[in-house]
Order: sequence, then C-alpha cells, then structure tokens
Amino acid sequence: MVKIAVLGFGTVGSGVVEVIRKNGESISKKAGEQIVVKHILDIRDFPDHPDRDLFTKDIEDILNDDEVSIVVEVMGGVEPAYTFTKRALLSGKHVVTSNKELVATHGSELLSIAEEKNINYMFEASVGGGIPIIRPLNQCLAANQITEIMGILNGTTNYILTQMIKAGQSFENALKDAQEKGYAERNPAADVEGHDACRKIAILSSLAFGHHVDSDQIHTEGITKISLEDVEYAEEMGSVIKLLGISKKVGDKVCARVSPMMIPKEHPLAGVEDVFNGILVKGDAIGDVMFYGRGAGKLPTASAVVADVIDITKHIDRNNRFIWKKSEREILMDIGESNTSYFVRVKTDDKPAVINTISKMLGKCSFISIDNPSTEDEVAFVTPEKKEKDLKNVLNSLNNLPFVNSVHSVIRVDKE
Ligand code: HSE
Repeated sequence: MVKIAVLGFGTVGSGVVEVIRKNGESISKKAGEQIVVKHILDIRDFPDHPDRDLFTKDIEDILNDDEVSIVVEVMGGVEPAYTFTKRALLSGKHVVTSNKELVATHGSELLSIAEEKNINYMFEASVGGGIPIIRPLNQCLAANQITEIMGILNGTTNYILTQMIKAGQSFENALKDAQEKGYAERNPAADVEGHDACRKIAILSSLAFGHHVDSDQIHTEGITKISLEDVEYAEEMGSVIKLLGISKKVGDKVCARVSPMMIPKEHPLAGVEDVFNGILVKGDAIGDVMFYGRGAGKLPTASAVVADVIDITKHIDRNNRFIWKKSEREILMDIGESNTSYFVRVKTDDKPAVINTISKMLGKCSFISIDNPSTEDEVAFVTPEKKEKDLKNVLNSLNNLPFVNSVHSVIRVDKE
C-alpha cells in the first residue's frame, strides 16, 4: 500500500481525492499497489466532508509521517508550496505537482534535489491540464532533438477568444463565463496577460532543451487588447487569432515568446477551440506531432496528477531522470532579432498618405479592409517578414507622423 498526502483542497486537490476514490480499484491494478490518501492539508475547515478526519492544518503532520511516501502539492503559488516541496523532497518523499509557477521558478533546484535523493519530482499536470505532454517529451520523444514547440497553453484565453470568434461575445462576458466554469486562475490577469502560458512554455522549453529557461525573461503579451474588429480582420484574411506560446531552437539559443497570433484556418492549432489546449512539437526524427485535450478543469488536471502518482508507485525506488540545469550562459535569444510579420491598424484622416508611407518604409504590404463602420478611419495591413526590432522602429516612426492619429492592434502573423 502507498500512502499519499494532498497539499491544498481546492479545485485540483478535491479532484485528486475524487479520482482516487472513484477509480481506486483500477488505479491499484495499474499501480500494482493500493493508493490511499492519508492526509489532506488545507487552512480551511471541512467539518461536513466525508473525509473530515484526514484534514490537517499542520504540514509537520505530513512531513513527520514516515508512512507517507508521496506528497501531492496542488496549492498553487510559490510560497508556501516551495518550502513544503523542498522539505518533503529533502525528507525523501516523492512530490507530484500541478503548480506551474513553482516548477517554472524553482524546477531546476527541486529536480536536482530529487535526483540526489533518488526520488521523483513530477509535474505532468503543470502544462496542458489533462494532456500528456511532459512524459511524452521526456520519454516517447527522447530519441529526437526537439526543434520547436508551439502551443495553445491556456484554456481560459482560448475559451475567451473562441467566444469572441464564434459568438461575437465581449471579452468581459467570456472571461466571466470561464471563471464560473472553474478554468481561470484565482487572479485572471495570470491568464489574460499571458503569464500562465508563459510559465508553461518556460517549463516545456527547459525540458525540451535541457537548460532552465527563465519565465521572467520570456517576452509575454496577453489578449486584453484584442478587439472584435481584430477578430473580423482575421476572418477576412482566412485566419483566426490564438494566444500562442512558442519556443524554437535557433543555433545554441532558444527563441521563446507568448503573444496573440493570427494563424491560417488550415493551421493544425487553428481548430483547437474552447477550453482545449493543443501543443505542436517538432522533432528531427518524428517531424510534427500534436497533443490535444482539456487544458484546464478539476478532473482533467487531477487525471494528470494521479497518473504521476501511479508512475511513481511503479518506480518507487528510482529517479526518472526528468532534469534541467541552470545554464551559465544566456540561453534566451533577444526577441528583437527574431523574424516576424505584423498585422497593424493605423487610424488616420489621410489614408493615401499612410499607404504611400508604409509602402516606402516596409516594402510590399498586404492591405485589408472589412465592412465595419468603426474601421472607416483606418488603414490595416500585414507587413513583410522582418526583424522585430526593425518593425518596431518603423511603427514608432509612423506614430510620429502628422497624418497618423494612432498605431494599434499590432498582432503577429504566421504565414506558414
Ligand atoms: N488557468 C489555467 C488555464 C488553468 O486556463 O489554462 C490550467 O493551467
């Protein structure tokens, strides 16, 4: 019998306890041992809960209990999760987590402790909710050099964008809806400003490229500036707008960013809708492989957490070699040096002057218009592919021209 403790009885923690109870028999068969929840840590009281006797508010009850061999940390946030995880690992207990913030921030240190202690720190649920992606990257695709990862990594923003695209719903209403369904983070800024997706692409990059990629250094933009007019322009271009996390190997550097992008409707990620996540991985042997599924929600995330618990139970005596190290040199490439193409809208009282100037400054652009009165005073176009820093310079100069009222809605375009 393997005894576990669950730290945090929120959406994911309660899902973990529910899945273990509901599927206990088949889980035990697959794990080769019965898996039993012995403690649940939470600062709140649950006097009427059927498992009320398992609750504790004192982490020492768990850390000092030699019968507990696996700790499931599903508290979220860096502290006290970091302290509890480190102490659990140092005391020889395996740890499973869904906490992307902690993995992205302290993953390399916690993985090193697990390696030294010959135990495991596993985090399948930290990226893509219920989608298997961490284990495939580390095991099934281990024969490959990974060259690129591109993903819709946040269910809340994908839900919001899908509502805007399919139902013409406002950003605010769609966000409220996502929060009610339990997809959103406690602080929705983490979703809509792209920070959640950023932590996930940092974890995937670190794992795929073997060096710690610092999430604080990744260029990150969210979807708060995307309007229904932008969605209409994308439709006119045969594209959709998605919030993408992208990480590419460029020489000995990694080029990573999170930003909204217009992608053609034929792109494999374009059909990933609602709360679903999709992750496209390119490997030198396998070519393209795509992972798709529910990226958020109680039971999908619990499914990934419990899978890690089962995996550890099957290999309780050895470390699984999930590892990345802090690099001594700068791993991330300057985003200004990367090539891209922008969709831009320029508000003006003199459209011919704008078209003329843009063409002179940028070369051949594609101009787009939509049948919407609110866009009558603007020129919208897609730039040729250029270095980001050069495009930014051109847009800054445009903003200073007397016949330009404002430059806005700058969205990257994937032309592939
Ligand atoms: N808020 C996250 C999302 C939850 O919407 O994807 C899963 O990490």
